[in-house]
Amino acid sequence: MSIHFDHKNLMAGMAGKANGITPAEYERAQPRAFKALAAFRKLSETGRYGFPHLPFQKGVIQDVRKYVDSVRGGYDTVCLVGIGGSALGAWALDCGIRGPHPVQGAFTPERPRLVILDNVDPGFTQAALDSMDPQRTLAVVVAKSGGTAETVSTFLILREWLERGLGAETPRRIAAVTTEGKGDLFSLARAEGYRTFGIPENVGGRFSVLSPVGLLPAALIGIDIGKLTRGAAAMTHRCWQEDLEENIALRAALCHWLILMRKAKPIQVAFPYSNHLWGTAFWFRQLWAESLGKARNRAGEVVHTGQTPVAALGTTDQHSQVQLYIEGPNDKVFTFWAVERFSSSGKIPAGRFGLPAFDALAGKSLAKLLDAERRATAAALAEEGRPNCTFTLDRVDEEHLGAFLQMMEFETAFMGELLGIDAFDQPGVELGKKFTFALMGREGYEEYRERFEKYEKKRAGE
Ligand code: PA5
Repeated sequence: MSIHFDHKNLMAGMAGKANGITPAEYERAQPRAFKALAAFRKLSETGRYGFPHLPFQKGVIQDVRKYVDSVRGGYDTVCLVGIGGSALGAWALDCGIRGPHPVQGAFTPERPRLVILDNVDPGFTQAALDSMDPQRTLAVVVAKSGGTAETVSTFLILREWLERGLGAETPRRIAAVTTEGKGDLFSLARAEGYRTFGIPENVGGRFSVLSPVGLLPAALIGIDIGKLTRGAAAMTHRCWQEDLEENIALRAALCHWLILMRKAKPIQVAFPYSNHLWGTAFWFRQLWAESLGKARNRAGEVVHTGQTPVAALGTTDQHSQVQLYIEGPNDKVFTFWAVERFSSSGKIPAGRFGLPAFDALAGKSLAKLLDAERRATAAALAEEGRPNCTFTLDRVDEEHLGAFLQMMEFETAFMGELLGIDAFDQPGVELGKKFTFALMGREGYEEYRERFEKYEKKRAGE
């Protein structure tokens, strides 16, 4: 497995002193990074946070494989119902390994597709149902809490749709991934006889891709979860090293912390130069935003910290965003995701036309052009004092993707420690959820109904 991190363009020597890290700043901050590593290691060893242990849970991997073997061949579509951390990991894996939409190719029982119903857009949901056949669909419902409004409502629609086509067979076509022994989804699964898989209590949604939350849908669509977890396990060993060369998660966290705190860059653009990594960019966006955007630090002081993650695709967004990135406010740090080897080089025909724009590219390859465009964009950004850095993956396969996802989870955890915040909670999304429950008439949420009415009165100027 080969994943590298190059932070040269984050340094003052390349981006200038105002926007880049000076060698003295980097040197001085290193003890903080090692302290963050030690603090997080302790939290992981005591079992408070569980994601570092996931790649080593052989029993879970075996259970998932056994189930997949028992249902394989009986479906061509896996329909996942879940949202946020309960859907984005599966999307990253599907896009990375099965291929980006809309060029995934035909779906068959040998090569099933994944349909993710996360949003409660009624038009989208109906169109998805219309595209599936209940006889050839396997449903996977994922909710750690077991009661998320979007997931519950869409699942009820899907369950009824399955029942219309399958009758009494329906429960055998549903697998539920949720907290073992807790929550309404678990109760329903038990009552109706769905196959269930557990989510460890100490693994939060956005850190759960290597639990059954991501592993089950991945294995169901033919992704090799053995290789995926092997890559993640190898990366985990690297992420515990007290060595900034080897431990790229710690080095990246340290650099991003310095750039955020000392160089005032509140926005990070995750910039994959690979369509296969586009799903991963959206997964990362949630990981970085929900983990680090916090009002208070661990000491309870108001800090309103965090860094806004933006996903951009190279080269596509060079023709959409880069004008802003180069000449707009200097408030961003850019993290390129490069890939060294693609499944095809995309050879450009060698014929010449006597036309400079065409002949300059004749006989070269799309891979070479993509690489040149990324390096050119990095250079242009650096020249304008816009700090940037690059993760390079040898290729996008199960092993590298597993390692890359695990590395970013470690980087996020380390960044949380550097910022002194709890990267694993999400108190900010709770109030909106409670207002939604109140608006939908859920019992026990009357207090929030009143608060919401007060807010509406205020809007109306009463
Ligand atoms: O990362 C998180 O914790 C959240 O994004 C959750 O995954 C999301 O809110 C969905 O929660 P649940 O799995 O309980 O439906």
